[in-house]
Parts: sequence; C-alpha cells; structure tokens
Amino acid sequence: MMTAMTMATALEEAQRAHARGDLSAAIAAYEQLLAHTLPEALSAAVWFNLAAAHRALDHHDDAVAAARRAAELSGDAASHAQLGLCLAARGQPEEAVLAHERALSLPLDEATEVATWVNLGNARRRAGDRAGAESAYRRALALCPDHGAAHYNLHACLFRDDDPASALEHLDRASGVAWAPALAWAIRQRQGVDAAAPAAPSFLLDSLRFALAHPEARWCADTFATLDLALDLVHIDGDVVELGVRFGTSLRHLARRLSRTSRRLHGFDSFEGLPEAWGGQAPGLYSTGGRLPAVPDGVELHPGWFRDTLPRFVASAGSVALVHVDCDIYASTRTALHALASLVRPGTILVFDDYLGNPTWRDDEHAALLDAADARGWRLRYRAFSPFSRQAVVELTEVGCSAGAAPG
Ligand SMILES: C[S@@+](CC[C@H](N)C(=O)[O-])C[C@H]1O[C@@H](n2cnc3c(N)ncnc32)[C@H](O)[C@@H]1O
Repeated sequence: MMTAMTMATALEEAQRAHARGDLSAAIAAYEQLLAHTLPEALSAAVWFNLAAAHRALDHHDDAVAAARRAAELSGDAASHAQLGLCLAARGQPEEAVLAHERALSLPLDEATEVATWVNLGNARRRAGDRAGAESAYRRALALCPDHGAAHYNLHACLFRDDDPASALEHLDRASGVAWAPALAWAIRQRQGVDAAAPAAPSFLLDSLRFALAHPEARWCADTFATLDLALDLVHIDGDVVELGVRFGTSLRHLARRLSRTSRRLHGFDSFEGLPEAWGGQAPGLYSTGGRLPAVPDGVELHPGWFRDTLPRFVASAGSVALVHVDCDIYASTRTALHALASLVRPGTILVFDDYLGNPTWRDDEHAALLDAADARGWRLRYRAFSPFSRQAVVELTEVGCSAGAAPG
C-alpha cells in the first residue's frame, strides 16, 4: 500500500524523468504508479502525463488510450485537449477536432485556451476544413494577438498566389517562427520586391531559390490546396496513385475529390514505415505497425513494399494520370517512379510531398525524380510549389524522349 507521501514522491520522480526527456523511464514510472490504487485526481494526472510521454514517442495507440482514460477520470479541458493532440498524431483529424472543441467548451486557463484554438485550427486544416481552421486561428489571436504559431498557420489558410498581401501580413507577425521571415522574403521576391535574404538555414534558402527559379509555377501554402491544384491540372484519362498512405489523411482527401469521377484511386504502403533511416530518424519512421487505415469504398489499398506491389499493379493497370509521391526517401521514390514508368503519359501529374525544405532535399525525392527523368527520357515542367508544406507539382510533358531531358 502506497502512502500519500510515497505516491507524491514517485510522481515527482516520474515527472523529473519526463522533464529531462527520458521518456521510457518516465513511462515505466507512470505505469508502476498506475499499478496501485490511486486517488482519482492523481490517477487522472498520471494518465495525462503517460499520454504525453507516449505521444512524444509516437506510441499512438497507447497515447490515445491513456488520454481517453485521463479525460474519463478528470473530464477537464486539459485532458480533452491532450486527447485531441493524441488523436491528431494518430491521423484522426476529425476526431481530434471533436476533442479540441470539447476542451474549449469547458473551463480552461487562457494559455491552454489559446494553444487549443491553434491545435483545433491545425486539426481542422488536416480534416480539409480551411475556413474552420482560419476561424480557430483568429480566435487564438483574439486572445493572444502576438501568437507566432497562430499567425504562421493562418497565413497558410489565407495565402493566394495572385494576392498574397493578407498572408504576408500574418507571416510578418509570426514572431519566433524560424521559417517565417524567409518565406515572406521569397513571396515578396516573387512579387518583384528585391531585398537581401534574411538569415535562415541554407537548405531553406536553397529550396526557396529553386522554387523562385521556376517563376511560371504557381505557389500554394497548404497540403490539400496543392493537391487540389494538381487535380485541376489533370487533363488525361487514367488512375490516381498514392505512394505513401500511412494513416490515409491525404488519400481520403484525394478520395473526396475524386468521388464524382470514374478515376480509380490506389494507395501503396508497407504500413511498416520508411525502409531506411531518414533525417536522423531510424528506419520504420511513420510505421502504423502494419495496420491499414479505413478508406472510402472504391479506394484500393496495396499493402507491401513498392518493389513487390507496384510490378503486380503495373501488370494489370492502364495509364496513370496523377501520382502523389509521399514516401520521402530517395530509394523508395526511385523504385516507385521506375516501376510506374510504363503507365505515365505526357500530361501525367506528379505531386511530391517533402520535395523541398528539408536539409537533404536535393538528395531525396528531387534526386530520384531527376534520375528517373534522365533514365526514362521524361521532360518535366514544374507547375506548382508549396514551400510551407514542402510540396512540388510536376507535369511530365514528354516521355521516352532522348536522355538528359530533365530540367536542373
Ligand atoms: C510520410 S508517410 C505518408 C503520409 C501520408 N500520405 C499522409 O497523408 O499522412 C510515408 C509513408 O511511406 C511509406 N513508404 C516509404 N517507403 C516505402 C516503400 N519502399 N514501400 C512501401 N511503403 C513505403 C511508409 O510506410 C510511410 O507510411
């Protein structure tokens, strides 16, 4: 039997491990505490902390389960807000929206309220509700007019390539957000306002200069807005393929957009994460533990490694009108683009997520695209960039022409 004193000491120790970033030790300590009969308020606090630690380690199921338990026990705003974050991290933005809205319907301190409006905005954006996201960011700013993340995310909702003034206004006010000055600089360059580049990581300025070097390409500032623009560019028959599905967030958006067309939508993923280390992260990043997401009727999932699943698909498929490449690394992108080479046509649109903006962007999807273009004789035209969401949209204007046709 633990006394109140030993419980408090054990909780303090667990929280110390948590605070110094030793999450495994913190989780073990929280679980040890939960093995005892604890007063309800203490139990809720431990479940809450356990959820946060699991979330930080991408233990999505454990995080959601712990956050639900905390919310059941305490019923307070902070635990519903924690649940919202855990659901968002597990790729359930619609459910995250409900949890954040619930949190905001309960009494809460101002700092939690502001953060929850921002998190609600993020979840609504991931759920495809840009207008709802905009109003959530504005609510955060009504409470805290200098909130950098709220300004930064709001700029992405407001951005219009032909009139970026209001997006720029919020980028300029996104104090403390490292990328904001460089993005604002690049948007102004695009408007013809010449100025020295601000201090920013060299890979970011390199990415922005690359995009600026293709002035005919449109700019977007949101993942789904870029996918929508790419879909609008498709003028040939054929299926739509997604390479990298994970929890199905972008696949479900594509499905919503394609629901009234006869195009078939195919999603390819190992559901075991990246096969190699990337960006300092171990192999297996983005794994769902082999679990397939729920997808709308008519969407076909092809679980397995691209090297196995794509050749089987290609053997029975027609042409491909749009490919959403969201598999991050060079090797996977290269394998996939080569495997799909017999299905692409002039007019096929390739949308790349994580194309630019990462320290290794020139060696990742970009390098794999240039390789495939060189080997397969593809002529490319950059049609859009979204530096904020790191995407590029490319049209294949010719296939099978003489080697060396790719632009720099
Ligand atoms: C960033 S996630 C995809 C995110 C998703 N589009 C979304 O909307 O959230 C990248 C995915 O690519 C998958 N992947 C990467 N390389 C692969 C390969 N060679 N074969 C199969 N799947 C792969 C990983 O399993 C991971 O789920």
